[in-house]
Amino acid sequence: MRVRIKNLSKSYQDADRTLTVIQDLSFDFPERGAVAIIGRSGIGKSTLLHLLGALDTPSTGDIFYDEKRINAMASDERAAFRARHVGFIFQFHHLLPEFSALENVAMPLTITGVSDEEAYGVAASMLERMGLSNRERHLPSQLSGGEQQRVAIARALIAKPRVVLADEPTGNLDVETAMRVQELMLEMNRELQNTFIVVTHNQELARSMDLVVEMMPGGGLTQQQP
Ligand SMILES: Nc1ncnc2c1ncn2[C@@H]1O[C@H](COP(=O)(O)OP(=O)(O)O)[C@@H](O)[C@H]1O
Ligand SMILES: [Mg+2]
Repeated sequence: MRVRIKNLSKSYQDADRTLTVIQDLSFDFPERGAVAIIGRSGIGKSTLLHLLGALDTPSTGDIFYDEKRINAMASDERAAFRARHVGFIFQFHHLLPEFSALENVAMPLTITGVSDEEAYGVAASMLERMGLSNRERHLPSQLSGGEQQRVAIARALIAKPRVVLADEPTGNLDVETAMRVQELMLEMNRELQNTFIVVTHNQELARSMDLVVEMMPGGGLTQQQP
């Protein structure tokens, strides 16, 4: 799926001032492959990712998935679209603490009406891909940081989303675990032939992507080959 932003702006309003974080950004993300978004802390990377995932709405401008303008959708339509087409991976895994690894991974399927039997079967094979077959029954609190993040990746990808948005997915991991998580993400990106958009501080991770886009101080995006 082709993700495009057009003249996108986002401002936050508080009592006495307006903070403009994103101003008039336009960009076409490639239909397949992995794109890194880099830029200094506070420049608006997470804000951009939230807009791309329709978790937040722009002040002005548009976000297109193919020809669909997602910011024009009603909120329930947008939520359904997101559940069907978009996978999210965050720095902190956001797994549900009272559910097992297997249940967490299966959830995107079970909530869309896939039978438990089928969903758990697919979830088990996703966990196997992540090297976590023997962790199915573990609760998130019983897993290491890297294991939790791999469960989160399995959950983000189980419904084969056309677009995956990741916000500092290796930011909380040691170097070696970050490498493993990075390899798994890129492997899955190639396998699913989808679009990965990954905000990262990790130079290594950025360099392994197909394209690097930097958010510049003062606004604008510059594109660089990794
Ligand atoms: N909900 C919000 N309300 C007001 N300001 C916000 C909000 N979210 C983010 N900001 C501000 O917007 C700027 C960009 O934040 P963010 O997108 O999180 O940056 P990054 O991810 O690049 O570090 C920061 O100055 C931050 O304080
Ligand atoms: Mg951020």
